[in-house]
Amino acid sequence: MNVLVVGGAGYIGSHCVRQLLAAGHRPAVLDNLVYGHRAAVAPGVAFHEVNLGDEAAVERVLRAERIELVMHFAAYCYVGESVTDPLKYYFNNSVGTLQLLRATLNAGVKQFVFSSTCATYGAPAALPITETMPQAPINPYGQTKLDVENALKALAAAHGLSFAAFRYFNAAGAAEDGAIGEDHTPETHLIPLAIDAATGRRPHLELFGADYPTPDGTCLRDYVHVDDLSRAHIAVFPKLAKPGTVLFYNLGTGRPTSNCEVIRAVEKATGRKIKVIESPRRAGDPAALYADSSKAQRELGWSVKFPDIDAIVATAWKWHSAHPDGYGKFPPAADPQPNIRR
Ligand SMILES: NC(=O)c1ccc[n+]([C@@H]2O[C@H](COP(=O)([O-])OP(=O)(O)OC[C@H]3O[C@@H](n4cnc5c(N)ncnc54)[C@H](O)[C@@H]3O)[C@@H](O)[C@H]2O)c1
Repeated sequence: MNVLVVGGAGYIGSHCVRQLLAAGHRPAVLDNLVYGHRAAVAPGVAFHEVNLGDEAAVERVLRAERIELVMHFAAYCYVGESVTDPLKYYFNNSVGTLQLLRATLNAGVKQFVFSSTCATYGAPAALPITETMPQAPINPYGQTKLDVENALKALAAAHGLSFAAFRYFNAAGAAEDGAIGEDHTPETHLIPLAIDAATGRRPHLELFGADYPTPDGTCLRDYVHVDDLSRAHIAVFPKLAKPGTVLFYNLGTGRPTSNCEVIRAVEKATGRKIKVIESPRRAGDPAALYADSSKAQRELGWSVKFPDIDAIVATAWKWHSAHPDGYGKFPPAADPQPNIRR
């Protein structure tokens, strides 16, 4: 299939591009590089430096690349910043996505895959989280994702758009061959922060809350490997052929892993001790979040290749140890196809 990967220069999108290539599809990437990396896009893949809200430019790309399905990863993703600067999030994540959707429909593309999040559930009443539990986001970031989910439902009913919205838990790890990985600035994710603390790039790791009602007192989260996430996005393709299809799936391993367990896994992978400084809990951090992903397993035949934290951290360490500066010092990727830049 010809697939436009919006946000394909970012962490998860760039991994999905490689999985699409491996599965025999033809991805093209649209990204404005606000947070992404040109070097993360696989060589030979068409790259369009375009803002997702630029409807005319997006429509031109969709037509030029003969796109059949849009995968939408582009968003601002910093929960704390969404609280202090909500308009930034509403405009990019909600309004920008509505503009992308209008361009998509105008170009006659009727299949859409959306990166949603477990943050749409807010603080869940029960665990593990299933897709049918109430969604009550506790920050603007989660709300923007829920807004898009609701818009997608309306477009499915009105225009026959077929879509799958995947609610990710904590994306983690890197490509198995170590070619691409996670490089966010600023970085807020625990595994890369712990790796930086282990290697001395950061003086210590700040641990927010050691007094939660969990076995070791630290938060429990559900880490799912970025390539496992990507494979679910591709497994859903056959289901989207039917017009008006509406699909929601949680994507996680279902295994709660504590912050302390992540720290131990990083110490094991790197062979180095991490200096940990305990800080008070952060507002809005639930004690535990983990998924029931049995719906994706049942309906998509999805299964995870990386079920435990040691295996996930090992791939992250492979990337970080070979690329301590992330994409910072990469040479530009060779691109045999002309870039379309606007
Ligand atoms: N990383 C996680 O653990 C996680 C968890 C749940 C959901 N998600 C969702 O998955 C998606 C991808 O996350 P990620 O970690 O890869 O983020 P990322 O920041 O690495 O990638 C996002 C990409 O989108 C691009 N982008 C942002 N705004 C754009 C715009 N207006 N026009 C064009 N491109 C734009 C950025 O340049 C970047 O390349 C996001 O939608 C995020 O909300 C991520």
